[in-house]
Amino acid sequence: MNSGYVLVTGASTGIGHACASALADKGFHVFAGVRREADGERIRKEIAGKVEPVMLDVTNPEHIVAAKQHITEVAGEKGLRGLVNNAGIAVAAPLEFVPMADFELQMNVNVNGLLAVTQAFLPLLRVASGRICLISSTNGFFAPPFMGPYSASKFAVEALGDSLRVELAPWNIRVSIVQPGAIQTPIWEKSKASNEAMLNRMPAECHALYGRAMDVMRREAQKMANRAVPAGRVADCVVHAITAAKPKTRYLCGGGARTEWLVARWMPDSLRDRIIRMVIGI
Ligand SMILES: NC(=O)c1ccc[n+]([C@@H]2O[C@H](COP(=O)([O-])OP(=O)(O)OC[C@H]3O[C@@H](n4cnc5c(N)ncnc54)[C@H](OP(=O)(O)O)[C@@H]3O)[C@@H](O)[C@H]2O)c1
Repeated sequence: MNSGYVLVTGASTGIGHACASALADKGFHVFAGVRREADGERIRKEIAGKVEPVMLDVTNPEHIVAAKQHITEVAGEKGLRGLVNNAGIAVAAPLEFVPMADFELQMNVNVNGLLAVTQAFLPLLRVASGRICLISSTNGFFAPPFMGPYSASKFAVEALGDSLRVELAPWNIRVSIVQPGAIQTPIWEKSKASNEAMLNRMPAECHALYGRAMDVMRREAQKMANRAVPAGRVADCVVHAITAAKPKTRYLCGGGARTEWLVARWMPDSLRDRIIRMVIGI
């Protein structure tokens, strides 16, 4: 059994919930980041073991300060054994028309928030020679059309992970990047709803220029969602990254991840573009 403290951001549902549950199951005291009191109450009931919800919107500096203060008081000299930077949203739209406010929100949650939380908790992680997990995506190395905002955020997460890994090596703070493919979580439905609302606000020109291709991409996304695997697959990787003597620098997991990696790594860009254009008919 493990002991010690870990923080998981975005633990209300999906991968964060599965990670909080798996880490509590391994004996950790899990601080589970949520944005609503009701979610905190719910996960207390749903997850067995030591799970303590903390109010943490990663874009809210006051939340970060308060969470840091509370966790420092509780964890004390033991420090933080793990930080799982999981909170995320997915903005999908043609880059020509994506409203800058939506693009900024995408980057604020997935990138700026992740870095702000990491900065805040590094002193506590240093005390425990803790581990950091960044939940990236296959979109961290493969950027399909209309997924530009989300992919840009995940490419940035990959860059932060590579830099942090070497910067933090002197203190034996290991950094792992987790690259899930398609995982069964509410993100598919949540982003479908928010992206449709965003597209409804866009000019007719956007729909005239990109509408048909976006319809095809939506159908392709639905096919991916149908092939998605349970979030426990990602949680297994996160548990390994936090507990193994030799954590991996990167974990590929879930629906289609390996195929996407092989395509990104070995297929020439021009061939990949031709295939994507053929599929979406542009
Ligand atoms: N599902 C997939 O196929 C897949 C694949 C690759 C990577 N990922 C990545 O996995 C991570 C988790 O996503 P998921 O699939 O588990 O989706 P999810 O069920 O929608 O979970 C996202 C979590 O992030 C939280 N969140 C959103 N905005 C936040 C903010 N400003 N501050 C703090 N928390 C915030 C959500 O909280 P609320 O409930 O309060 O909104 C929720 O707890 C994301 O980084 C995502 O990009 C997912």
